[in-house]
Amino acid sequence: MKIFLIGFMGSGKSYWGRKLSEKLTLPFFDLDEQIESNEGKKISQIFAEEGEEYFRLLEKDTLHIITESHDSFIMATGGGTPCYFNNIDFMNKTGLAVWINTPVDILHERLIKDKAHRPLIKNLDDVQLKSFIIKKFSDRKIYYEQAEMVVEENEKSLDKIVEKLFHA
Ligand code: S3P
Repeated sequence: MKIFLIGFMGSGKSYWGRKLSEKLTLPFFDLDEQIESNEGKKISQIFAEEGEEYFRLLEKDTLHIITESHDSFIMATGGGTPCYFNNIDFMNKTGLAVWINTPVDILHERLIKDKAHRPLIKNLDDVQLKSFIIKKFSDRKIYYEQAEMVVEENEKSLDKIVEKLFHA
């Protein structure tokens, strides 16, 4: 079982990924953390030194390497992962993509407090951040919607998610 959690920054992919991996006793991978540990650099440093295009290549390669070298896992991807190359098709072909959908207002509240390590938003003030989220979310929705399973805000309990997973 290869489960890919996808969704916007701040949607809770890593939080639910860790919870699910404990509950299902499956290994957990956080794609951003894997990239950071492979490169020996923080994501914001990679963006600053090498640029976003280079990061997207690393992201794709790391996604493929983890997926091809493990039979079963829960992976928290980055907010942009499904939107580049053919990453969403790759995830759909090799496992189950699950969209953790979170309303824009909640994303905004969370990201105000947690933007420092996120290069795409770290220099935005609160008002700019809100517009950024609205615009980016609407651009990315067509990719997120390609996930076979969606977890909506009112379905966010471990038992509900697990039940849905086994009926997907
Ligand atoms: C990004 C999201 C980040 C990280 C990078 C780019 C994005 O991951 O991959 O900063 O394009 O939305 P999180 O969704 O875990 O914040």
